[in-house]
Amino acid sequence: MGYREVYEAWRADPDGFWMREAEAIDWDRKPSKALFDGNAPLYEWFSDGMVNTCWNAVDRHVEAGRGGQVAIIHDSPVTGTVHKITYAELRNRVASLAGALRAKGVEKGDRVIIYMPMVPEALEAMLACARIGAIHSVVFGGFAAHELAVRIDDARPKCIIAASCGIEPGRVVHYKPLLDGALEQAEHEPSFCVIFQREQEVARLEAGRDHDWYAFQYGVEPADCVPVEGSHPAYILYTSGTTGAPKGVVRPTGGHLVALNWTMKNIYNVAPGETFWAASDVGWVVGHSYIAYAPLIHGNTTIVFEGKPVGTPDAGTFWRVIRDHDVKSFFTAPTAFRAIKREDPKGEFLKAYDTSCLRTLYLAGERADPDTIHWAQDMLKVPVVDHWWQTETGYAITAIPMGIEEMPVKIGSSGVPMPGYDVQILDEGGQPMGPNTLGAVAVKLPLPPGTLPTLWNAEARFKKSYLEHFPGYYETGDAGMIDEDGYLYIMARTDDVINVAGHRLSTGGMEEVLAGHPDVAECAVIGVSDELKGQMPVGFLCLTKGVNRPHDEIVSECVKLVREQIGPVAAFKKAVVVDRLPKTRSGKILRATMVKIADGAAFKMPATIDDPAILDEIRDALQTIGYAGD
Ligand code: COA
Ligand code: AMP
Repeated sequence: MGYREVYEAWRADPDGFWMREAEAIDWDRKPSKALFDGNAPLYEWFSDGMVNTCWNAVDRHVEAGRGGQVAIIHDSPVTGTVHKITYAELRNRVASLAGALRAKGVEKGDRVIIYMPMVPEALEAMLACARIGAIHSVVFGGFAAHELAVRIDDARPKCIIAASCGIEPGRVVHYKPLLDGALEQAEHEPSFCVIFQREQEVARLEAGRDHDWYAFQYGVEPADCVPVEGSHPAYILYTSGTTGAPKGVVRPTGGHLVALNWTMKNIYNVAPGETFWAASDVGWVVGHSYIAYAPLIHGNTTIVFEGKPVGTPDAGTFWRVIRDHDVKSFFTAPTAFRAIKREDPKGEFLKAYDTSCLRTLYLAGERADPDTIHWAQDMLKVPVVDHWWQTETGYAITAIPMGIEEMPVKIGSSGVPMPGYDVQILDEGGQPMGPNTLGAVAVKLPLPPGTLPTLWNAEARFKKSYLEHFPGYYETGDAGMIDEDGYLYIMARTDDVINVAGHRLSTGGMEEVLAGHPDVAECAVIGVSDELKGQMPVGFLCLTKGVNRPHDEIVSECVKLVREQIGPVAAFKKAVVVDRLPKTRSGKILRATMVKIADGAAFKMPATIDDPAILDEIRDALQTIGYAGD
């Protein structure tokens, strides 16, 4: 069957389609049906099935005789080590860790926060939670103490599992002091913490609260897999919304297993036993789905890569990893390729490595610019598939399903809708629009299995953020169009979320931090185009009356404040002081116009602008920091 037949088969009988796919999963009790729509517009999948994620990702492969296959390769150029873990070893390690957590009182439904760098123990911690039905929430290491504290207070974990440190090129990231700082700020107190001590920096443990990763496993009974309901939350992953309060995306267990397993063959075209590599971070959804869960559920070998595309040690690192570990499908963000291209435009490093094992390169996380796609195609001589998805969905909404059919790639498009997704372009009034017309990208409800059923502790926010604007649809927050062949083109966000180096960030969140500076009366943050990172945040600061300290002093304090409060990942490095901000007559800041000015792009004078002269002031201010060129 080709793509169109598969898509039509799903459309004709969605329940039948997903029940057939559910057969690839080991259930403790099979679900009676796929969709549970009794509470529409909130939907659940496979709710009355009983299942365990860890069993499906680990144990069943051992039972099937594949215990000797490598499950995880930790390739860490920043520490100069490569370490392989088989499925049998993984099962033993995870069962022991799960047993130790259980012995300390962690049970089904309890939350566990994981704050770890790219080490296999991060995956083991996730799987150990899944094994006993605990709900994990991984926090990306590039977030600072305050962001961690916000997540601690929202998830209210019984336990926090952290590493002593992470390693960024040229510096050690002190995870444990960051954790201590977060616990000081948070209102909620976990019962205990587990610290994985790395040899690069051993952390001080607080007696009574902190336990050593190995020591606390000593003598405990390994835990068996605990079956949970299909609708039981497997994890919470916080992502940026329009305000500083992150959204806790809930991932349901049954749909997650079924859908991710489906994607491995049909989208990524790998067979069990083959090596799949996603160069991302476990703190992001790409890491959850395609470093941890999907490859393991499908019985592949996954790579935990602790390094960067350039500088660890050079722009040939990716090619080395592909060759050394026989990678068949490779997934990363376009920004990583832009970084390599900038350093090695002619691909000199590539000449040293035979990467002929690679079949396809997959890109996602941000818009893939045509130059980068062409360059990657020319270098690697494989199809480059841009595919589009979100933390909320957990896997691709549109893609080229290489395992079903090698459909033509259209540069600039992120592919065609995957089964389960009825993607529509809507006008402001919620009416579907014809081909090649730009509008809001929405997905007709219900969303497919594995996508978010709600936000953690925030059902009203879930409805308001995603369901209310276009009744009957899920609002993606992206704008785009669909061509006459059904290919989707994502053009921009419709909200204040920006994308920096493939990382999703909230300008609203940064504004909240800046507004906390005593000298800042009003502020705005916009995302301006950046050749390497796609977008970079730039801040505009209006000072409180009477403040006459040097502006560069205030700017550097603001830069420091964002780094301390949100973290280095915000990449907030540039801000300017202005007298006033351009606004509509009703007081709304004209951020989109400011972005156009910063990018040196043409724009229409907004009809509702209060005072057009302010735009010249904004242009002048931007020019002082290297933007708004001709
Ligand atoms: N822990 C602590 N700090 C981290 C971190 C982590 N896990 N990840 C990033 N940071 C820090 C970086 O060190 C950097 O700090 P600096 O301001 O002191 O230099 C800052 O956060 C910004 O990081 P980033 O935007 O990633 O920039 P970079 O210069 O370190 O790397 C790229 C640029 C393009 C090489 C890098 O972003 C990359 O490889 N991206 C791949 C895409 C990706 O992983 N996407 C995730 C979704 S698919
Ligand atoms: P995240 O939730 O961090 O995965 O970010 C999701 C957002 O990243 C989407 O809503 C898009 O704005 C953007 N995005 C992800 N993949 C793509 C893509 N292939 N093309 C364009 N934008 C993308």
